[in-house]
Amino acid sequence: MQPPHFLVLFGLCSVSILFNVCSSFSLNAISRRDAIAAAGTFIVFPGNVKPAEAFDNSMDRTKFKDRPKRKGPQPTDLGIQFRGDLGDGLKGCGAGANCFSSTGDPELDGYYLIANLFVPPSTSTSPMKDVADAIEKYEVGHDNIDAGGFKIIKKDEGYVYAQFESLKNGYIDDVEFAVKDGEVLVRSSSRLGYLDYGVNAKRLNWIGKSLKEKGWKVKEINRSTHRDYFEQNNLQ
Ligand SMILES: *[C@@H]1O[C@H](CO)[C@@H](O)[C@H](O)[C@H]1NC(C)=O
Repeated sequence: MQPPHFLVLFGLCSVSILFNVCSSFSLNAISRRDAIAAAGTFIVFPGNVKPAEAFDNSMDRTKFKDRPKRKGPQPTDLGIQFRGDLGDGLKGCGAGANCFSSTGDPELDGYYLIANLFVPPSTSTSPMKDVADAIEKYEVGHDNIDAGGFKIIKKDEGYVYAQFESLKNGYIDDVEFAVKDGEVLVRSSSRLGYLDYGVNAKRLNWIGKSLKEKGWKVKEINRSTHRDYFEQNNLQ
């Protein structure tokens, strides 16, 4: 009776949605009993609408459940860090039209730079709380983006880090806010690919609108501020 359980486990391991879980199982060489217990748990999955790893606020992904999620690797250098000539700051962006950041060389990186995108009111004592509140209210699936939901991974007085997920392919974007010398730094970036079809701009603009309601001074990202991004992504 036990061998079939194993077959089920390894059978499921070929479904790439479970790949991470399964590969870590084989790496850890877990006991036979644990493997069987785990197999018992996994057997429940195929009937589930949402696999356990989806964000709680994801829209229904049933239609895409056979599509492997392509989360991409989380960058290891998020947060405020020393960025060479640019000093301390959030991570910059690569060459792709799929990222915006407050950190970069204005001469070389103008295509993705967002200097002073969001400025809190001078009376604000806890800008990161405003930011976290705005994210909590985020409308999953607005403008056809981020329908895979989102999650705030980390928040404290000086920093907020959230992940946003696309519905169809399960791409994860990393979104960060940090306070440095009284200024709010922002980065929103896809992990994979070269284009983002406007997702990072639409997301930041949505969060910006929400902050504006709390009295923040907010700049919009649009074709006249970031022409290259809009052209490469073929957006109006
Ligand atoms: C684009 O955004 C900038 C500021 O972010 C704003 O001044 C300008 O009016 C906007 N342009 C359009 C066409 O909406």
